[in-house]
Amino acid sequence: MPRSSRALVLERFGELPRLVSRPVPDRPPGHTLVRVRAAQISHLDLNIVDGQFGILPELPAVPGTEAAGVVVASDVHPEGMEVRIRGGGVGLKRDGGWAEHALVRDEVVVPVPPGTDPALACCFFSPAGTAQAAVHRVAAIQPGERVAVTGAAGAVGALTVQLAARAGAKVFGVVGRRAKLGSVPPPAKPLLVSELTADAVGAPLDAVIDTVGGPVLATALGLVRGRGRVALVGYTAGRELRLDLADFLLADVSLLPVNLMTRGEEVMADADRLLTELNAGELTLPIERYPLDRLDEAAGRLRSGEAVGKVVLEFD
Ligand SMILES: NC(=O)c1ccc[n+]([C@@H]2O[C@H](COP(=O)([O-])OP(=O)(O)OC[C@H]3O[C@@H](n4cnc5c(N)ncnc54)[C@H](OP(=O)(O)O)[C@@H]3O)[C@@H](O)[C@H]2O)c1
Repeated sequence: MPRSSRALVLERFGELPRLVSRPVPDRPPGHTLVRVRAAQISHLDLNIVDGQFGILPELPAVPGTEAAGVVVASDVHPEGMEVRIRGGGVGLKRDGGWAEHALVRDEVVVPVPPGTDPALACCFFSPAGTAQAAVHRVAAIQPGERVAVTGAAGAVGALTVQLAARAGAKVFGVVGRRAKLGSVPPPAKPLLVSELTADAVGAPLDAVIDTVGGPVLATALGLVRGRGRVALVGYTAGRELRLDLADFLLADVSLLPVNLMTRGEEVMADADRLLTELNAGELTLPIERYPLDRLDEAAGRLRSGEAVGKVVLEFD
């Protein structure tokens, strides 16, 4: 094992972490040392880097709430096992995965099928679990239904499109930027959000799965038939919705929250099955991949909304 390894160390909130060489951490009992192969850069990670989250680490700290790699040393996990790490305060209360060697508690280490792409392993769970919950548990999409998915080139949106189509729905994939029209997975019909009208979808929709929120949600509610459903996943475009309650009652469209935190356990097995299908190429999750020394560019793509799907740091 090398004596030193590289890590992205956050020294001041509001500045990006600095790439440094540091000693490989010593492993106390109850901990597993993982050689990280890939680590996600998520909106949550950037909020932590910016000092804009309710729980913040003591500095200096290594960010990175989700990562994947190989066990180097552990009392409970076999050496060489391919794993992902997530939860238990990783990247939040304690050092995270933006480092070649991550020292984490044994219980946050979860095996992944051998040969899984580490970039996929570190970022699939949230979009896969959320898409599964949205399509099958909350919106309960049925064969033959007409469904719009907003943010359809995003990580959750792209998987939601594919799962809704598999459930037998005719799917419209709605994006905000013209440049992302080509990133909507088939067989969905791509649509620009500025062109999301009753004419564009042809007939009232049975359901909308909205990953964007704000004014897009207000538009979506108006396109759904009586007794139809709108499942809300995210609110990147705005966290408020103004409703005329008389119109809302008259329209009789159910507005349903999708919350992975409350549904994580119930979709866990499905998310693992989806990982196998993603790794086999039977489903696609868009991933932008960056080496450690291009954190700046990767974070910029995520912050600006230009990134297509997940953004991942790959280690040599
Ligand atoms: N409810 C839950 O349990 C749960 C679980 C996971 C994720 N989420 C939330 O779901 C949302 C989607 O997650 P994701 O992983 O799919 O994110 P993502 O890959 O970053 O996709 C978000 C999409 O939102 C669109 N968008 C619309 N307005 C935007 C704006 N003002 N700024 C940036 N993007 C904007 C972008 O597409 P266009 O450029 O085409 O507009 C982008 O593709 C996020 O808000 C996330 O926090 C919720």
